[in-house]
Amino acid sequence: MYISCSDTELLLFDRIAEAAGRLEAEVFVIGGFVRDKIIGRPTRDADIVCVGNAIELANAVAALYHPKPAVAFFKNFGTAHFKIPLNANNGEVLDVEFVGARKESYRASSRKPEVVPGTLEDDQNRRDFTINALAISLNKNNYGQLIDPFDGLRDLEEKRIHTPLEPLTTFSDDPLRMLRAIRFATQLGFQIDPQTFQAIVADAERIRIISQERITEEINKIIAAEKPSVGFDLLYKSGLLEIIFPKMTDLAGAEYIDGLGHKDNFYHTLQVLDNIAVHTNDLWLRWAAILHDIGKPATKKFEAGHGWTFHGHEVVGGRMVPKIFDSLKLPMNDKMRFVRKLVELHLRPISLTKENITDSAIRRLLFDAGEEIDSLMMLCEADITSKNKQKVKRYLENFEMVRERLLEVEEKDRIRNWQPPITGEMIMDIFGIGPSKKVGDLKNLIREAILEGEIENSFDAAYRFMLDKAAGMNLKPVEGKLGD
Ligand code: CTP
Repeated sequence: MYISCSDTELLLFDRIAEAAGRLEAEVFVIGGFVRDKIIGRPTRDADIVCVGNAIELANAVAALYHPKPAVAFFKNFGTAHFKIPLNANNGEVLDVEFVGARKESYRASSRKPEVVPGTLEDDQNRRDFTINALAISLNKNNYGQLIDPFDGLRDLEEKRIHTPLEPLTTFSDDPLRMLRAIRFATQLGFQIDPQTFQAIVADAERIRIISQERITEEINKIIAAEKPSVGFDLLYKSGLLEIIFPKMTDLAGAEYIDGLGHKDNFYHTLQVLDNIAVHTNDLWLRWAAILHDIGKPATKKFEAGHGWTFHGHEVVGGRMVPKIFDSLKLPMNDKMRFVRKLVELHLRPISLTKENITDSAIRRLLFDAGEEIDSLMMLCEADITSKNKQKVKRYLENFEMVRERLLEVEEKDRIRNWQPPITGEMIMDIFGIGPSKKVGDLKNLIREAILEGEIENSFDAAYRFMLDKAAGMNLKPVEGKLGD
């Protein structure tokens, strides 16, 4: 089999062949590395399967490198791996993983695999898809020979995801494979073989035995693909989405009353996700697209004479974000807060596309969005999914106007990273009071007055304004603090 390898990879394979020869172990490169080389995708890890002791082999290969890379190993699983530099200039490395050939099966209700040593054939039988079961020999007698018992090469050519064994058998070994099938179909632009897909539909419930971390890793890989909608559509149609992310399937469907319907918010969301994927690889901005309308099912109402409304869905949706992140075991940090903020603000720019928008409305958006203003504008533009080309053009032109106004006002007022000139600490110090509602009220009044343009954005103007408002609240500056 001819595949194009770098000098680093060729040297590695020579060294593996040499060490395996000495140890009298049979050895093969297998799985994703072979698949990706054949279809010309970049590879960052190489799985080496060895009929024999994989840990011993890994150490013997590592010892042929100077300096010798550190070998990490897991005795219980009989696996070991080390990293070698791929590109000295940018620090890229190749992760080389050694595993013993095995027969493996998961007990029906358990996540713990039983690992039993086996032949190469056994090992290929227990792999997830024909395209991931291709092996290339690294043995002296047939070095470079492709061993492809399931016609994986043809499936690669015909762009097909197909299990090597009867699909239910392969999926019962590790139900995560149902998600992996959909993930590979999305990443590679392949079709899932109908029989394999039917088995996913039939076995979907078994995904419940898989840990949330592994599930979410697959979801994130689908989101990171070029056209993530492909994966979500398959997740939906297979019944998996209903189990792993039911809040998203709640968006599906269109209801009609008196002949008036609303759009299917699930497919709308997928369109927004694809739209944003054209412009950014940022996983969290893509998550914001997925969740932007998540509050719609909970706020949906039919108002006679008016039609369907989703009032406040951005607020309800924003509140749902932390719960969803928590349940999917996504990070509960600034990434979550970023997504929440975008969901909460996603209707704001559109309200600024009308004529005669005041500077204060623009200032307010700049203040609320802060650093996230560019991401927010990107989300809003992705949110235009009308089929009417004229309409899309008009909306985009309106957003262009909003962008211009944002730039104009930002240049003039520098609101984006702005903090009001008087802080809560200053207020407590000036009036000699502790943390209380009055402090918050005064702070808000000052901020609002500046954003509304009632007073100038300066310390002096804010100070005078504060004294005036404080007098009405029966607050007096502590002696000696006045005019500080
Ligand atoms: N594999 C499997 N079943 C799983 C996970 C992995 O059979 N549930 C096998 C496949 O042969 C796969 C190999 O182990 O090719 C390596 O797995 P992994 O690194 O997760 O996937 P890759 O195919 O390398 O693809 P990617 O790196 O894109 O995840």
